[in-house]
Amino acid sequence: IKRIGVLTGGGDCPGLNAVIRAVTKAAINEYGLEVLGFQDGFKGLVTNNYVNLNLKSVSGIGHTGGTILGSSNRDDPFRFLTMVDGKQTYTDQSDRAIENLRNLDIDALIVIGGDGSLHIAQKFYNKGVNVVAVPKTIDNDLGATDVTFGFNTAVDTASEAIDRLHTTAESHHRVMILEVMGRYAGWISLHAGISGGADVILIPEIPYRLECVIQKIQQRYEQDKKFSIIVIAEGAVEKGGEMVIQRMDHTSHDPIRLGGIGNKLAQDIENASNIETRVTVLGHLQRGGSPIPYDRIISSRYGVAAVHAVMAGKFGSMVSLTGSNIITVPILEAIKELRKVDPEGEMVGTARALGMSFGDCL
Ligand code: F6P
Repeated sequence: IKRIGVLTGGGDCPGLNAVIRAVTKAAINEYGLEVLGFQDGFKGLVTNNYVNLNLKSVSGIGHTGGTILGSSNRDDPFRFLTMVDGKQTYTDQSDRAIENLRNLDIDALIVIGGDGSLHIAQKFYNKGVNVVAVPKTIDNDLGATDVTFGFNTAVDTASEAIDRLHTTAESHHRVMILEVMGRYAGWISLHAGISGGADVILIPEIPYRLECVIQKIQQRYEQDKKFSIIVIAEGAVEKGGEMVIQRMDHTSHDPIRLGGIGNKLAQDIENASNIETRVTVLGHLQRGGSPIPYDRIISSRYGVAAVHAVMAGKFGSMVSLTGSNIITVPILEAIKELRKVDPEGEMVGTARALGMSFGDCL
């Protein structure tokens, strides 16, 4: 192994630059490798768009947000938007990407990505590419690792938002709803809710009932707490209800709810109870900005471990935090199924013991 490639795929996430920096530094300092960074995710692999990464180019980026390489969640080489006879159509460009890797003499590729990017990484591995993956997503819903980098920064941002909403909620005797990200899993909602002291935590894993949410708000009124804070994951659903679809995902055509469910809940609470309710959709504030120290550290550990995995020939694997150690696991394990909150688990139990409601009247 003399030369490696690295790319960041999917939605951005605090800590991406810290991983790129760690990969580059470890590759150069520990093994004297050359490092090429592909631009805008897998798109750069198909279009052969890359930059040389060296100690100078990654210096001073560990604490910064975004990704110096750019990212994209639209570009899948196996289903790549191409012009054929003047018409836009999807074609398989994976062979072209592999040829680019071969022509550049790249011996291994480090893919920093979430579920979508790791599915693509696995397909390249199946076609013979030496791939090692690093688990990224603010949603924390990848399997086979205790944590993905970026998650704790998102929780920090959401938690601060709850703190700020508390004071204004109390001043105006209002219900304040904070909608956070989490399409399929409620990790951000649950962790930020516990940290910020929310009264109601709504997550996709526990369908809520409006009457139970209102019951909790009214109980608080009776205890002279004339305000309530609700944190809701964008993927939360009302029991027996439909998902609130705002628009379609670029690649998978899965529904993404942007400001949908929080607004619906506010309307429903006002209609049913006359309690003044306001909504804040935190949106991409959770993805932007500097990683907190935890994420800078875990990103650095992941980046260095990915280079060690490459040198140990552990291809088709992902670096993972398991307990307090960084280990490697098959990418297949990580993408087998999304890691969801256990409704019967200790975290939900902790929140319930603190008097928080999941909108299920328990
Ligand atoms: O998967 C990460 C995530 O932040 C989801 O929680 C959210 O639904 C999605 O990305 C938003 O994606 P986009 O930036 O493409 O709208």
